[in-house]
Amino acid sequence: MRYGRTRPGDMFIASSAVVMAEFVKLLASLLLVFKQEGSLQHCFMALYTQIWQQKVDTLKVCVPSFIYLVQNNLLYVSASNLDAATYQVTYQMKILTTAIFAVLILRKQLRGTQWVSLVLLTVGVALVQLSSSDKGTTSTDAGQNRLLGCLAAIAACCCSGFAGIYFEKILKGSDVSVWVRNVQLSFLSIPLGVITSFFNDYSTITEKGFLFGYDAYVWYLVVLNAVGGLLVAMVVKYADNILKGFATSLAIVISTVSSVFMFGFVITFQFVVGAALVIGSIFLYSHEPKKPAANPMGNPKDHGDHHKLCLSGRQQHVPSVELTLKRNAVSHTKKSGY
Ligand code: C5P
Repeated sequence: MRYGRTRPGDMFIASSAVVMAEFVKLLASLLLVFKQEGSLQHCFMALYTQIWQQKVDTLKVCVPSFIYLVQNNLLYVSASNLDAATYQVTYQMKILTTAIFAVLILRKQLRGTQWVSLVLLTVGVALVQLSSSDKGTTSTDAGQNRLLGCLAAIAACCCSGFAGIYFEKILKGSDVSVWVRNVQLSFLSIPLGVITSFFNDYSTITEKGFLFGYDAYVWYLVVLNAVGGLLVAMVVKYADNILKGFATSLAIVISTVSSVFMFGFVITFQFVVGAALVIGSIFLYSHEPKKPAANPMGNPKDHGDHHKLCLSGRQQHVPSVELTLKRNAVSHTKKSGY
């Protein structure tokens, strides 16, 4: 994203790239619903009953759909004004916002170490921000507004936290599949995105066209963002906090190394300390103290497992559900004598 917004030549309209990514996600989600249902007829029926016949439910998806749209536009603003590594580290503040919304909306409880890790995360991001505001961190700072980039990233973090938790609540509160949910998201975000795009960039669009400045690289960016979005949807559904934690910290490392080669980014000691604090806080957040060996007869207190919080505030249903099922199977086996 950073390279796309800073390279020389015709500059594409960021809001149009957001709409096109939504469009690619819609096509991919429709294909996945088709694969899930097995035939075109079942696919139409699933979409008709779960989207058209449940209008109130579809309207509920408007909220994360709109917020994700704002977030995706803000991320372009941030990537245009901050160097890639600083942008990536600052965006990790979404762990903090997700945790806050999980506590407020889902009434989750955080362990003491998780609160400590959130403080470390904030300190780490602050250090990285301050280190990059020193001179000489990047060679392409001209004409950019660091404060705007930083504020856009923080606003995107708020959007990410709220939309992520809200989407999780909707997804886990019903048996509608994640791909049907994504079709719902795209149905709403595409028209909203087109309106936002015309509102923001009316003169450029009417003068030069909606797809002005698109070349293979911009299409690659569009597909990359769309695939990233679909992966987030899968993370909400299948992955656990440790996996997402590894992925997030890896993203910081990859962004930093790429920035050194692509933009001449200079890694300062303060940046290293800040990034290490951010990565460390991610691991601390997802670290769970070892529990005593499971009692095969089951302990009603263990149902508290359901309240474990994932890295981004998402619940780890699968392991605890599996554990509960295994315990039930064991106690059933004992009762029935098999
Ligand atoms: O985790 P994070 O907030 O950074 O990721 C949000 C991204 O994932 C946004 O681009 C959003 O449009 C996308 N997303 C999606 N489908 C979902 C949830 C999020 O495409 N079900």
